Amino acid sequence: MRMDFYSLSTVLLVILITCLLAKYTRMMLEKAKLPPGPTPLPIIGTLYKMKLSNVVRSLMELHKTYGDIFTIYEGHRPCVVLCGYKAIKETLIDKAEEFSGRGYYPVFYDFTKGDDLAFSNGEKWKELRHFSQLTLTNFGMGKRSIEERIKEEAEYLIDLLRKTNGSPIDPKHHLHGFVCNVICSVIFGKRFDYQDEEFQNLVHWLQDSFRIMSNPWGLMYNVYPGFMKYIPGPHKQLMKNYTFITDLIRKKMENNIKSLDSNNPRDYIDCFLIKMKKEEKKSVTYYNHNTLVMSSLLLLFGATETVSNTLCYLFLLLMKHPNVAEKVYKEIDNVIGHRSPNYEDRHKMPYTEAFIHEVQRFADVAPMSLPHELTKDTQIRNYTFRKGTVFLPLLTGVHYDKTQFNNPKNFNPNNFLDEDGKFKKNNAVMAFSAGKRICPGLSLALMEIFLFTTTMLQNFTIKPLVSPEDISIDPVGVGLAHIPPNYEFCLLPRSQK
Ligand code: HEM
Repeated sequence: MRMDFYSLSTVLLVILITCLLAKYTRMMLEKAKLPPGPTPLPIIGTLYKMKLSNVVRSLMELHKTYGDIFTIYEGHRPCVVLCGYKAIKETLIDKAEEFSGRGYYPVFYDFTKGDDLAFSNGEKWKELRHFSQLTLTNFGMGKRSIEERIKEEAEYLIDLLRKTNGSPIDPKHHLHGFVCNVICSVIFGKRFDYQDEEFQNLVHWLQDSFRIMSNPWGLMYNVYPGFMKYIPGPHKQLMKNYTFITDLIRKKMENNIKSLDSNNPRDYIDCFLIKMKKEEKKSVTYYNHNTLVMSSLLLLFGATETVSNTLCYLFLLLMKHPNVAEKVYKEIDNVIGHRSPNYEDRHKMPYTEAFIHEVQRFADVAPMSLPHELTKDTQIRNYTFRKGTVFLPLLTGVHYDKTQFNNPKNFNPNNFLDEDGKFKKNNAVMAFSAGKRICPGLSLALMEIFLFTTTMLQNFTIKPLVSPEDISIDPVGVGLAHIPPNYEFCLLPRSQK
């Protein structure tokens, strides 16, 4: 009996090793056809080359050795990294259709199962994305424009901030609240009171999930989803957070269904329900309750941390560079004065526009974008990549590309100004990525950033608690996002200046 047990174990071990060797041999044969990169090891792939606390830095290091297109291995799965403006232009932009697929991204996909607008592919993705983008750009969403919703929210927050009476505050929480309320107004048709318990929970779940995704646990889940499902750790909280958020969306959806007036949609949910009705007789439709809930979840995710982290960096960089701040204040005073800012004003405010673009470049809030997958076999340089190959657009490589910016490590709004002080666009700012998967919330985000920044600086002088040299701008989390450090400032009403 004992003998049998040992024989069985030996046989199993031999089978296991043979399988591993076969898999490894296949991986090495495949590797020969892919761009260069570090040698993958069985099971861990090229993980040994990654500093889990700052994967972006590790990838930028590999770029120095292997060039602007190189291959890494997430476990046994190859992933081709695109680094720098030229590499991203040749792929995401010049071969937009081929690069329009979404690669497997377990931290989200394992929950939504691709029933949403960000982690779906093919016709489902095209439909859900097109519909959501139209809705986000105001198409048929009631009487109030998105600009009005943003202005209303900015006013609420300014009133709240006025009550701080110049005492030190950490703006992170307020900025998250502002941004979350804007997207809530779009999806649910109404803003929440900042003290509302449901709202505070929502902000917490979103923030907490991003924090987990931007730490080593989130990263490990993306590499070994099957294994990590059985390991305790903070990543387990992710799925719980998603469940809380989707329960809330489902509750709102049920209320909308009861009070729906097809001629007067109030929000994204109403628009979705109306579209569902229109398509109910079709043999194939992608509009159902589950795609509504999952797409709303992804819009909430897409729209909150990205914009609020950008705003957190924006005010931090403003304090770090008082000479830049001076010019922004001056332009706001000259062009807007005391009336409320409009989005149209940006055309007359080149310095503020340049400042915002430089913040987006420098802060690089979504450093690794999201994975893309080839929709068909494609030739890039000397490589023929097979359909299904996964690519990671490393946006940091574009934003810090020395061929596109002088001294990219320095913060300098002049990167976006010509000799006459006019705003000068630079295609190498890809905070929203590029190609067919470019962020569908781009217009909403830019409008929020411009309107909130100008409203805030029109009302307050931002006073740091320490001198500019002592202000740290190093992120406290690097992964899906660059998470800005916590900081404090005092807000002095502009009249007291
Ligand atoms: C400063 C703010 C923002 C930044 C930096 C940002 C950045 C990005 C990036 C890098 C991607 C990945 C694109 C790719 O696959 O190559 C993305 C996708 C996406 N973003 Fe944003 N985003 C922002 C704001 C928003 C807002 C306000 C919304 C919603 C209203 C939103 C919703 C989405 C969605 C749904 C996707 C997936 C699109 C798809 O797969 O087709 N984002 N965003």
